[in-house]
Amino acid sequence: MVSSSEIRNKYLEFFKSKGHTRIPSASLIPENDPTVLFTTAGMHPLVPYLLGEKHPSGKMLTNAQKCIRTGDIDEVGNTTHLTFFEMLGNWSLGEYFKEQAIEYSFEFLTSKEWLGFDKNLLAFSVFQGDNDAPFDSEAFEKWKSLGISEKRIAKLPKKNNWWGPAGETGPCGPDTEMFYWTGNPSEVPESFNDDNPLWVEIWNDVFMQYNKTKDGEFVPLVQKNIDTGMGLERTVAILNKCDVYHIDTFKPVVSAIEELSGKKYGENERDTRAIRIVADHLRAATFILGDERGIVPSNVGQGYVLRRLIRRAVRYAKQIGIPMERLHLIVGDVIEGFENSPYSELEKNKEKIVSEFKREVEKFSVALDKGLKEFSKLEKVDGAVAFNLYQSYGFPLELTVELSHERGFSVDEKEFNEEFKKHQDLSRTASAGVFKGGLADNSEAVVKYHTATHLMLQAMREILGSHVEQRGSNLTAERMRFDFSHPTKVTPEEIKKIEDRVNEIIKKDLPVHFEMLSVDEAKKRGATGIFEEKYSALGNNLKVYFVGDYSAEICGGPHVEHTGILGTFKIQKEEAVSQGVRRIKAILS
Ligand code: ALA
Repeated sequence: MVSSSEIRNKYLEFFKSKGHTRIPSASLIPENDPTVLFTTAGMHPLVPYLLGEKHPSGKMLTNAQKCIRTGDIDEVGNTTHLTFFEMLGNWSLGEYFKEQAIEYSFEFLTSKEWLGFDKNLLAFSVFQGDNDAPFDSEAFEKWKSLGISEKRIAKLPKKNNWWGPAGETGPCGPDTEMFYWTGNPSEVPESFNDDNPLWVEIWNDVFMQYNKTKDGEFVPLVQKNIDTGMGLERTVAILNKCDVYHIDTFKPVVSAIEELSGKKYGENERDTRAIRIVADHLRAATFILGDERGIVPSNVGQGYVLRRLIRRAVRYAKQIGIPMERLHLIVGDVIEGFENSPYSELEKNKEKIVSEFKREVEKFSVALDKGLKEFSKLEKVDGAVAFNLYQSYGFPLELTVELSHERGFSVDEKEFNEEFKKHQDLSRTASAGVFKGGLADNSEAVVKYHTATHLMLQAMREILGSHVEQRGSNLTAERMRFDFSHPTKVTPEEIKKIEDRVNEIIKKDLPVHFEMLSVDEAKKRGATGIFEEKYSALGNNLKVYFVGDYSAEICGGPHVEHTGILGTFKIQKEEAVSQGVRRIKAILS
């Protein structure tokens, strides 16, 4: 059995041999990016560098990134779509471009020394061109020059071969996707057709050469970048000729589910789908709970996605007869599957993961039985009923939608959503758009808020104490939202003091600059931020932003040049997020 570690290491080795520097996986919880709830791709934490900021580790990078994509939640249950997955990536920040990237991909895929895939079982797609950008003849010709038949290179529209979500701003460009034939090799079709699900996409090379502006224009970027993403689980599955639920990281999980439920994977469609959903959602929940910026179940933002994942898993676990008081055991098996992985945070946070998971299961499993009973009496479901099921029994909206489909009720999801929004601020989680992946908004206003978070954190550390650490940050052009560790409510007097201090620093018009420092130097100079162990293992190169001599923080940037332009800082709201974590909303005017 080819293991996930083996392929992860091979990938990183290959790109190291081509001069790339390995960087650690970033947290699953994005920082300073209001457009997404979770890290959805390896490029996500690299957006500032794709836009021209200097990366501490150089211009050629590689990593394995933890990713969560909940946009595909309905597809979970088939053989290829996972909520949590690892993306293997390589980046060129203005260094090599299209031809070289394709050559690397081809060598890694086909060389006997690396993956050794049969060239005859591969297919490709390239951007066909439209009003915004021309047909990608360079990618097309490059694949041909490597001996690929034209019939295996599909020319597809933006919907397929463009990366950088529509309707949003940020770096984007045409891409070329790589597919592997997972059917019988003797039946491989001469021509590639992306409608055939036996062609499985395994890798995507994005040629990031445009910045999409607010006006919908595609402006060439200062530097041309390469961003690639290979799905680790799919690749490992293909190498083992199995489906993703049989690869090494899933094996202990699926076995445990089989044992606890008495059902067999693959025996019938209904149980198999339930086993997959339980396995997938528990794995995603484990990684979210165990993340460096760990999140716990709640009714907003990431916490609500986590809640939905656990509750949907509970529902399917019940369906196949897993005793609720034993469901948490599977979490231990998820962690075991990642024993030899770079994600040491799982083992480190195991106790917290299991206890938070158990708490959520206990909260929901009794309500679920009652709610299901109530549901069975219904003749129809509309928005008001869906909201009542949420309020009385904690049914996330999509659970009600799913149950309604199963019962053959017609469902007006738009009306449901509106009903929910009327009652509760769930708009961010209820609108699927936010999950589809987005890119950071580097507009001037957001950059100002970013610098303001540094000032506020430092002010809080002075006024509330040095225990205050950042737990999360979410910036838009209109406001900042900042989560931090603090055991009690911040009093109105303290809030006033924090505001005054921040405004005093703004008025001083201090200069902002960054320096590249080793971990030791950064610590010596009082920098705050996450000193992940991983960083020290991977080179002593931290980017530290200084605001005059007031604050020093490990950060990728970007920031304003002088504090004077920030205007007036005002805290609008202070509230609890979870045990020991508070949230502040503030504005600049
Ligand atoms: N960012 C690209 C993707 O996620 C590589 O497919």
